[in-house]
Amino acid sequence: MSALALGILGSGKGSNCRAILEQIHARKIAAEARLIVSDVFDAGILDIGREFGVPNVYLPPGKFRTRLEPVVEMELVKLLREAGIDLVVLAGFMRVLKETMLEAFPRRIINLHPSLLPKYPGVEAWKQALAAEEKITGCTVHYVDAGIDSGEIIAQRKVAILPGDTPESLHQRIQIAERELYPEVIARFAEI
Ligand code: GAR
Repeated sequence: MSALALGILGSGKGSNCRAILEQIHARKIAAEARLIVSDVFDAGILDIGREFGVPNVYLPPGKFRTRLEPVVEMELVKLLREAGIDLVVLAGFMRVLKETMLEAFPRRIINLHPSLLPKYPGVEAWKQALAAEEKITGCTVHYVDAGIDSGEIIAQRKVAILPGDTPESLHQRIQIAERELYPEVIARFAEI
């Protein structure tokens, strides 16, 4: 059986991507990271790709702020198809994917979000949870659909909100939980 081929998309520092690549390296995930794509030229996630020897591409996103320009999204599909990607893993990818991607990879795009969805979709979800005086928040892995952080939930991990938590301290603990949860979920996909 051939290893699950992953395409990882991200816009930021890539700590979740690193956690996934480390687990692949340690043979705890029966997958192969074939391609890393970023819409941000100097994103840390591209450096991580270089560090681990994974082909990595900067894809200029075009003129829109929250999504890829349609022609760019078509280019993304082409890149992922050419690399033979089985599962598209969003790891801090900050743009909404549209029909072109959703139709090309039905139920084969997953995302990680820093809240217990359906609560607090959108940006800086940990700040939203803190402002709402929640006692518990966490992180969610879900399938990507046409909405924002709205697809079917695959797995969640809870994180307690502690007295005296700041946005930074809470975010840090959520990210620790994310870096455990996401590789675990991907390992399960690789076993199917
Ligand atoms: C993660 O905390 C992830 O939950 C969040 O971006 C961060 C990426 O960190 N994603 C979203 O908010 C998506 N709506 P990383 O670049 O260090 O992996």
